[in-house]
Amino acid sequence: MAANPVSSIFRRGLFNNKVAIVTGGGTGIGKTITRELLFLGCKVMIASRKGDNLQKASQEMQKEVAPPADISFMQCNIRKEEEVKSLISTTVEKYGRLDFVINNGGGQFYSPASQISLKGWNAVMETNLTGTFLMCREAYNQWMSEHGGAIVTIITDMWKGWPSMSHSGAARAGVENLTKSLAIEWASEGVRVNCVAPGSSIFSETAAANYGSLDVFSKNLEMVPAKRFGTTEEVSAAVSFLLSPAAAFISGETMKVDAGSSLYRTSWEIPDHKKNEAYTWEDDLKQQKEQTSPSSKL
Ligand code: ADE
Repeated sequence: MAANPVSSIFRRGLFNNKVAIVTGGGTGIGKTITRELLFLGCKVMIASRKGDNLQKASQEMQKEVAPPADISFMQCNIRKEEEVKSLISTTVEKYGRLDFVINNGGGQFYSPASQISLKGWNAVMETNLTGTFLMCREAYNQWMSEHGGAIVTIITDMWKGWPSMSHSGAARAGVENLTKSLAIEWASEGVRVNCVAPGSSIFSETAAANYGSLDVFSKNLEMVPAKRFGTTEEVSAAVSFLLSPAAAFISGETMKVDAGSSLYRTSWEIPDHKKNEAYTWEDDLKQQKEQTSPSSKL
């Protein structure tokens, strides 16, 4: 089977001798990011909860990117502090450095907020917010505090809230704020921390498989000013830019890759209702008058 093409808008060798960890690097957007980093000369450790996928993906990517593509994989549940510590220390031991962390691993499930159990809520918080925090903290404590580095976290289009995914919206908004705090706390050690926020119309086969059909994508398409799906390459280019020296003066920032969708329409429909009564002074005064009139004292 012919290898898939790999390329980049950035010059080959840009990330020679650099080392990155990409969580969720074996599928979807994370896989495209990994392929581009490898193409640019970076050595990459991919990590996720599912080890079998990782092995297959890393073998595939090794073949796709002409040598020397140096890719490793490690099973890691980012919710588990000890596993995150071990992912970072193993990477530093293997490669002798850690320049970039790309926090791409995450997930959620559709549910109205009223139906989210505490267990479900905590699981989404732990994966998306706590997992990102642990990855950043360990990368900093074990390497970047002394040597600098760049961290990019992939978040989502939650700018108008995220009805039906309220847990994930809250967690991702938390990540965005965490990013700002870390960018300031770690600036003096030469660590830059940013986010990339893809819109919900980035097409990947992994996302399509997760959603079970293309319907979700087709519906989202109406909300995209560009009138087309985004590509995983368009997200990866933003990540590569933020990791590169071209972004040396950018930290604590979030780059939306959504063609302006977050400024445009939303798919959420609110059913007709009469549950919101207007407030006016006139009504207020009328009510007060009624309460103080002699007849009301009878
Ligand atoms: N991707 C989704 N959930 C994850 C987890 N808990 N650990 C690592 N990668 C993940």
